[in-house]
Amino acid sequence: MATKRFDGRKILLTGGATGVGNVLMKMLIEEGGRVVVGDIEPSVVEISSAAGALGVVSDVSTPAGTQKLFDEAVDYFGNPDILISNAGFIVPKPILETSDEEWDRVMGINAKALFMLSRLVIPGMLEKGSGAIVATASISGMVGLASQAAYCAAKGAIVQLVKQLAVEYAAQNIRVNAVGPGAIATPFLDRYIDAQPDPSATAAAVKAAHPMNRWAEPEEVAKAIAYLASDDASFVNGHVLMVDGGYVAQ
Ligand SMILES: NC(=O)c1ccc[n+]([C@@H]2O[C@H](COP(=O)([O-])OP(=O)(O)OC[C@H]3O[C@@H](n4cnc5c(N)ncnc54)[C@H](O)[C@@H]3O)[C@@H](O)[C@H]2O)c1
Repeated sequence: MATKRFDGRKILLTGGATGVGNVLMKMLIEEGGRVVVGDIEPSVVEISSAAGALGVVSDVSTPAGTQKLFDEAVDYFGNPDILISNAGFIVPKPILETSDEEWDRVMGINAKALFMLSRLVIPGMLEKGSGAIVATASISGMVGLASQAAYCAAKGAIVQLVKQLAVEYAAQNIRVNAVGPGAIATPFLDRYIDAQPDPSATAAAVKAAHPMNRWAEPEEVAKAIAYLASDDASFVNGHVLMVDGGYVAQ
């Protein structure tokens, strides 16, 4: 039987109850991976178990949440070979309407989670002499977008932490990369569009802002994450792979 890309790999994935992470979880299992999924949604337990993964209810914006997720993953399969920090959250507001709490929440779920989870998984990767970390950034981490003050800052922080970690641990064979999606057809985008005064006009405008005049299917982003996490990307390090239909090329 042909070897699968993730045969025997222990993968810690966040944000797998819905959207990109959910599609990715199934893809990784299909390709032989053992997966632990952390998500704040209690449904993650059943969803993961049905797919053959372990779901852990955890808030990745908190030290207690990331520690719980890591501890349960270690109990389940040992130290992860691969970390995919994919959980994300947006408060679509300009800075003047953003509260301290909203700023902290957005920074916590997107950026601080990558910091805390990396700090937990890297010691085991150093011991093993290899590892891969992939974070989900965004076009919002590469360009400024109106009404996304905290989110742009958080995704920008992810991009820089990814580059920093890539350089720090390159010699120890730990690769660190990110994907930078444009709009993706997930509950995240539905919520964003439904919150606008004219949702159908917003939907058309979001599509038109992408040169391919559409948004991504979650599979298109999941495939890019799987590539970066796999040995197919064995010399790809510190890279932000844009999956944005040409958005930031404009
Ligand atoms: N959908 C888009 O248009 C879009 C565009 C660019 C980037 N992204 C990014 O893609 C990633 C995946 O998002 P998606 O589109 O699949 O959205 P989604 O809302 O469908 O999935 C995000 C998942 O993260 C989980 N989550 C949220 N807060 C959490 C917390 N505190 N702790 C643990 N889990 C938490 C949610 O429950 C959900 O399962 C996110 O990082 C998001 O920022 C999305």
